[in-house]
Amino acid sequence: MVFTIGLLGLGTVGTGTAEIILDSEGRNPLLQEIKIKQVGVNNLEKPRSVTLDPGVLTTDLESIVNDPEIEIVVELLGGLEPARSLILTAIRNGKHIVTANKAVIARYGDEIYTAANQAGVYVLLEAAVAGGIPVIKPLKQSLGVNRITSVIGIINGTTNYILTKMSTEGLDFADVLAEAQELGYAEADPTADVDGGDAADKISILAAIAFGERVKREEISCEGIRQISATDISYAEDLGFVVKLLAIAKGGMGQSLQIRVHPTLVSQDHPLANVNGVNNAVLVEGDPLGQVMLSGPGAGKGATASAVVSDIVNVAGILKSNSQGKDLDPHLSCNHDNYAQLMPLAEITTRFYTRFLCNDVPGVIGYLGTCFGKHDVSLESIVQIGFQEDLAEIVVVTHDVKEGDFRQALAEIENLDAIASIPSIIRVL
Ligand code: HSE
Repeated sequence: MVFTIGLLGLGTVGTGTAEIILDSEGRNPLLQEIKIKQVGVNNLEKPRSVTLDPGVLTTDLESIVNDPEIEIVVELLGGLEPARSLILTAIRNGKHIVTANKAVIARYGDEIYTAANQAGVYVLLEAAVAGGIPVIKPLKQSLGVNRITSVIGIINGTTNYILTKMSTEGLDFADVLAEAQELGYAEADPTADVDGGDAADKISILAAIAFGERVKREEISCEGIRQISATDISYAEDLGFVVKLLAIAKGGMGQSLQIRVHPTLVSQDHPLANVNGVNNAVLVEGDPLGQVMLSGPGAGKGATASAVVSDIVNVAGILKSNSQGKDLDPHLSCNHDNYAQLMPLAEITTRFYTRFLCNDVPGVIGYLGTCFGKHDVSLESIVQIGFQEDLAEIVVVTHDVKEGDFRQALAEIENLDAIASIPSIIRVL
């Protein structure tokens, strides 16, 4: 059989995808039956590192999603438009979709999956989360019988690279970001990565699968790593922690779902603490499973293309087994349409690390203890850890507390004349 596919985009991942398909020897035999009919690009003149048959490249992306011969459309454009419109047109034309686009799925997944279910086609997205690490299929299939209680991930390689480098070399955020941009590890516009948006897109997808409910992306609380300083990383290390940007989804077993992305102090002996550099990891906890951690390369040409092509082969396998026209396989489709009610941040329970800069006068530590106590915030430790010029630095680590209570205590503490500033508030896993 021949399975005819059209690619939208020939950037890094598109090139990796074409390279795997065109070099099929020693890989899955179904690859030999996949034919790339068209590849949609912006610029026909741009030099390409992959050699395609003449006439395969086109700037007419609409023609790909409307081509009756193309059975699978592989969307690798990224961004919201025209990706969303092209995916929807392809679906309405009865084509299966493989995509690496977490942004479009996180925001328009409901519209896209509703259309796909109506059209009886698959939308597969293994490459959209954690690059080459299989997480979508394991969550849906291999772990699907568990009651999942949490999914916690390091799912942005750029920020993990920056935090790792800040930690190993004692550098500040801005210096590491500039170097990462020079080396091409970070985008020229790093906003989506460093402000946590990319991780929020990905955890919204993972949470929807793990907890079986649709998630409104805009309801996810999201903090990035711009405010993390070398000072905090060093103090965290003294206290036995590393700093990681975590994407957290917790719930199930009668608990409301909480989904958040923020820098987090992680105990040095926690499995996620040793995931360094551009690597990603996803820690899944469920009943009766216990914990499973999936880790590996979360981005890059080969790793992401590996996930894209595996999804193409999955669809080809379904087409080959002649099950088309029958109901969609629930293991590969989206079969929930209710929306998750997310727990407000003020209601979550977590530990906090907080650094205060204050005048070194009698009574400050007592005042902090009293204020926290008044608001039901129990402290694990309070240490005057050093000086910044003539201001004393006090670091407080709390026990598990309700975030709303903690914020109320801080609002009161800020009013004390002796408190000059509160440079850092970081949650602790
Ligand atoms: N920009 C992402 C990251 C890779 O840094 O992990 C693509 O999802």
